[in-house]
Amino acid sequence: MNDLSSVLAASVAVILDNQSTSGSYVACPDFPPYRYSWFRDGAFIAEAMSRSGQTGSADRFHGWCSDVVGQRRDRIDRLIARASDGEPIEASEHLHTRYTLDGREADEEWWTFQLDGYGTWLWALDTHLRRHGGSRLPYLSSVAATIEYLAAFHDHPCYDWWEENVDQRHTSTLVAVAAGLRAVSSWPDLDGSRLAAATADRILERVAVEGVHDGHLTKWLGSTEVDASLIAAFVPFGLYPVDGELARATIGRIERELVPAGVHRYGDDVYYGGGEWVLLAGFLGSYHAAAGNDLRARELLGWIAAQADGDGHLPEQVNTHMLHPEDEQRWIEHWGPSAKPLLWSHAMLLSLAADLDLEGHARSTQPELV
Ligand code: BGC
Repeated sequence: MNDLSSVLAASVAVILDNQSTSGSYVACPDFPPYRYSWFRDGAFIAEAMSRSGQTGSADRFHGWCSDVVGQRRDRIDRLIARASDGEPIEASEHLHTRYTLDGREADEEWWTFQLDGYGTWLWALDTHLRRHGGSRLPYLSSVAATIEYLAAFHDHPCYDWWEENVDQRHTSTLVAVAAGLRAVSSWPDLDGSRLAAATADRILERVAVEGVHDGHLTKWLGSTEVDASLIAAFVPFGLYPVDGELARATIGRIERELVPAGVHRYGDDVYYGGGEWVLLAGFLGSYHAAAGNDLRARELLGWIAAQADGDGHLPEQVNTHMLHPEDEQRWIEHWGPSAKPLLWSHAMLLSLAADLDLEGHARSTQPELV
């Protein structure tokens, strides 16, 4: 099913079908380790739904996030108090990155400490409310708690977007946190709006000094490598101009090293052999659409649509070009075939279609389900 309209309609349907009654989105229904809801995936999914006219779906996800954070207010206060007393805090004691669909911590072990999702949630919530004129009131206390948490811990090393390298401060994590804090810093009646603005500024100052090498953003502070998640710093977070030197150098190196057709996460990725990620092709396409390179954006859109199966389902990654093919089989033996359908992949296709003013394709064939 590679006709664009069908894949867009299937994308909306897959996301709606896999949103729980509590509002959470399952990352992938058919891949057991992903039968949870991530703040990171979910925030980008909600943003795509918000842009595709599915405002109710986005509202429900944001309400779920707000409840998850609100129910952990005491825990956040305790973590902040311990940190200010100089007590060390284990990664496993922090707020988690993924929750069961009804908002509980999962029992099995995971790489749970990932700050980017909380920043991305703030960014997506603000973007959604501005777009559709929703009330901020129900979110004020959870947003204030998230600001305090991020302000206290943004400079702690944590796992990255790919749930790896817990000992580093990741540029993509830092820009997600800065984008979220900056987005909510102008909310009236919000406790912590000045803290949010000041923390975002501090993060971006540090990134400018320690997160840039050879004119491009780096995978983590002090690294010389790139990671495709850095595209988000430009689009959709909009922290730096899409036609500036930093963008040109960062996207240029990513294109040279990580983009055979789809987009690899980073140079030595071994997960399922290190294939090309559909959602990252969406990010790259959105960057090109914003930079006025519509032809390139459409090429990436076409590549994504071509990865859909007969049901219009998109995978997390495809193995037509792998960085480490020798590693694919051990992951298949460990967790089964790689994830499909991945809701985040579908979301980034919808966002790219919206960037190219093609979202009507999705809307005309898929009325909102409530
Ligand atoms: C990816 C994460 C993602 C998770 C759920 C992991 O393999 O590295 O970025 O949040 O899957 O989709």
